[in-house]
Amino acid sequence: MRTIIVGFLGCGNIGCGVWKLLNEFKEDLLHRSGVEFSIKKILVRDIAKKRDEVVPRHLLTTNPADVTDDPEIEMVLEFMGGETPATQYMLRALQMGKTVVTANKMALALNWHLLQSAAEKHNAGLYYEAAVCGAIPVIRTTIDSLQSNRIEEIMGIVNGTTNYILTRMSQEGSDYADVLRDAQRLGLAEPDPTSDVEGYDAAYKISILSSLAFHARVPFDVVYRQGISQIETVDIAYGKELGYTLKLLAIAKRQGNVIDARVHPTFIPDSHPLTSVNGSFNAIFLHGHACDDMMLFGRGAGSAPTASAVVSDMLYAASRETPRHPTFRNNNELAEGLTVTDDWHCSFYLRLSASDRPGIMAHITTCLGNEGISIRNLMQRDAVDGRAQIVLITHDAGECAVRNAVEAINGPDVQVESMIRVEGN
Ligand SMILES: NC(=O)c1ccc[n+]([C@@H]2O[C@H](COP(=O)([O-])OP(=O)(O)OC[C@H]3O[C@@H](n4cnc5c(N)ncnc54)[C@H](OP(=O)(O)O)[C@@H]3O)[C@@H](O)[C@H]2O)c1
Repeated sequence: MRTIIVGFLGCGNIGCGVWKLLNEFKEDLLHRSGVEFSIKKILVRDIAKKRDEVVPRHLLTTNPADVTDDPEIEMVLEFMGGETPATQYMLRALQMGKTVVTANKMALALNWHLLQSAAEKHNAGLYYEAAVCGAIPVIRTTIDSLQSNRIEEIMGIVNGTTNYILTRMSQEGSDYADVLRDAQRLGLAEPDPTSDVEGYDAAYKISILSSLAFHARVPFDVVYRQGISQIETVDIAYGKELGYTLKLLAIAKRQGNVIDARVHPTFIPDSHPLTSVNGSFNAIFLHGHACDDMMLFGRGAGSAPTASAVVSDMLYAASRETPRHPTFRNNNELAEGLTVTDDWHCSFYLRLSASDRPGIMAHITTCLGNEGISIRNLMQRDAVDGRAQIVLITHDAGECAVRNAVEAINGPDVQVESMIRVEGN
């Protein structure tokens, strides 16, 4: 039996979940792996605060050095959240040669280069399964099980809050603002929901995941990002009529040395496996040249599911004689030789409002045709106040061509009211 002395940075939702799992499952973990984890110190902001778990008061501290600098503590678990001071505390722990396990996608996506460099320099481990999609073992699957693949495409529902909102908008026809309010009341959305609904959280995750999948650093700032706050129920309903479901997808594709990485609302055909991922569940759909299509599905957040990933990292770290790090050059810049394109190809959904008069449809098809764009589906609704609603889905087209066509279409007689990308056709 080996005992590993552990320190926590943070003891909120995730910290309490890890505390509970380590205590409840102590005997099984010991039996299965021969390792016992002993929690020595826990950093919090407010020692007097009531917590979900009964954590002995003498373990709590407000001094980060009690965790990061204690020579007895071998493993530091970070669940504070935010970029700072979490990054600084993790750096300190790594500089002290300790293994760091983190659930913090933001700190990792923005400062991975610093953390990895400190870990390598001090021969310390850095593990982050819990930072991407909670309980789903997507990091380990990507770096271990799929080593024999050239991964060319990842599409994921990686944020439970936005998936919950879009699922309810779609099933009930409710407005975005009403469902968001409800999600906040139920604790499924933060009081300040920006990170989730504007796609930052998903962008951190796809930056991390695509870097591992492509074996090349894809920094956060090259990820195109558009959230769901401008989504209108009418588009979800029209999409449904045409056989599509709306999801906030995190997408990364690589063709040779050209990549695109993006987060945006996306229609997918109802036959696509991601369509069935509802509520706060997450899923990652990926394609490798040898494994073909694959989907990983499960709980992407929550105290116990995230704790499951954290403890899995702890056991993985404990089982390794030397720390494991990504092999690509990790310097916060796009890997040398790669380029990022903003002219990705997919289908596009357009909703237009138009004067109900002859020649309008010809104008629309000419503008699209001039950019080499052809129409896959077309639907027209009766005019209201003299304006007809036209909804169309294009065949595969380039982002820039579609933007040019939209600019050419727009005028007093026709307005493109919404443009939503369509994947998986
Ligand atoms: N919630 C999820 O479902 C989920 C899923 C996957 C990953 N994560 C990630 O896990 C991390 C933690 O999330 P959470 O939901 O557990 O957050 P949380 O409930 O807000 O807990 C944060 C903890 O960190 C402590 N803390 C924060 N700032 C501190 C500071 N400056 N000094 C000392 N202590 C500080 C807080 O202390 P007090 O308790 O005294 O306030 C609290 O114990 C985040 O990075 C998040 O992105 C969360």
